[in-house]
Amino acid sequence: MLSQKSIDIVKSTAPILADRGVEITTVFYKNLFTAHPELLNLFNSVNQKQGRQQTALANTVYAAALHIDNLGVLLPAVKQIAQKHRSLGIKPEHYPIVGKHLLEGIKEVLGDAATDEIIQAWADAYGIIADVFIQVEIEMYKEAEEQENGWGEFKNFEIVDKVVESDIITSFYLKPVDGSAVPTYNPGQYITIRLAIPGETYILNRQYSLSQAPNQDTFRITVKKENEMNPNGKVSVYLHQNLQIGDTFEVSSPAGDFYLDMESTRPVTLISGGVGITPMMSMLDTLSKNSPTRPVSFLHGARNNALHAFDKDVQQLMSAMEDTTYLAFYSDENKLLTKELLAENVLANGDIYVCGPVPFMKAIIPTLYELGFAEEHVHFEFFGPAVSLEPA
Ligand code: HEM
Repeated sequence: MLSQKSIDIVKSTAPILADRGVEITTVFYKNLFTAHPELLNLFNSVNQKQGRQQTALANTVYAAALHIDNLGVLLPAVKQIAQKHRSLGIKPEHYPIVGKHLLEGIKEVLGDAATDEIIQAWADAYGIIADVFIQVEIEMYKEAEEQENGWGEFKNFEIVDKVVESDIITSFYLKPVDGSAVPTYNPGQYITIRLAIPGETYILNRQYSLSQAPNQDTFRITVKKENEMNPNGKVSVYLHQNLQIGDTFEVSSPAGDFYLDMESTRPVTLISGGVGITPMMSMLDTLSKNSPTRPVSFLHGARNNALHAFDKDVQQLMSAMEDTTYLAFYSDENKLLTKELLAENVLANGDIYVCGPVPFMKAIIPTLYELGFAEEHVHFEFFGPAVSLEPA
């Protein structure tokens, strides 16, 4: 239990930390990686360079500080982050290391303003927040391990097929090297793949949504080939150019809290931009197989026809369904998913799922709210660490 004094200190100093949160987490990461370069095997260096990871961590610590005496309200957010942590193999023993460098970051940035009393209160608060994460993650590892055909951290998979879906998008079908079946998952969930790429000092981890309905045979991921000059594209370019059928890499068990509610019978609208189509394909495939009477509207934006993946597959899956709408729009032709189109094509009284690049999400989600769709029915997932939907 945190003392009332520590609670008061943490709450009253939280706004100062929020103001300087990104500065603090930037110093924190720098010191963390100097002291523990091996942790670079876990973090995505591009998210660091873009500042997205710093902002995500700072926002979470700030939110946790504000609710330090009632952390239960943050449980949904904690679970979302813990899913990502679990898919990366984050362990309880990592938490004290992060705590030590976070507190040092606070001291370094705030200087004399960070009295011993303040630092002690934050150390106590961090301990409590870390415990919540650790407990949630222990449960998640246990669940993943205990699932039929499941495993806790990473397992070796082999590429058994590689299928071109558009000029820049290719699917990879993956099977466990040990010959076992793959576990089931919720349509919309992702896996982390872990690769040692020749010439790279550290192991690279990337999350990819599973892009077909769960089945015992294979996982399928569908990957956009990034520009070779884009540092964020290292894994995607390597997958496209170097990895072939028969090659292997490590895969986490499926994770993530963005998935189709399969209990619901409500209409479903699936909205995606670019390669954000991947979780939607898993959802649509599942709906087509398991609940073909559920009304579905599938709205997809791509740059142009050549870059538009899964067009035929969407039509084929829909041919087995009763009540469907399918709309694809190309930004190169100046066709965007406008407020009017959303008003016409998002199904009323339904569940809405949105996935795409950051500008797409920033345009679509607030518009859905403006149109009166309730937040509890709008589910979305960003590529990479979540960012604020507020205008910059
Ligand atoms: C991701 C918060 C502890 C490693 C994240 C994200 C947040 C976060 C908000 C972004 C999630 C997203 O993708 O949307 C926290 C908090 C912690 C904590 C509040 C402490 C209470 C740790 C620890 C480690 C760790 C102990 C291990 C050293 C990571 C990694 C990612 C991540 C590797 C993914 C980053 C990337 O690939 O860009 N964490 N975290 N975190 N966290 Fe933590």
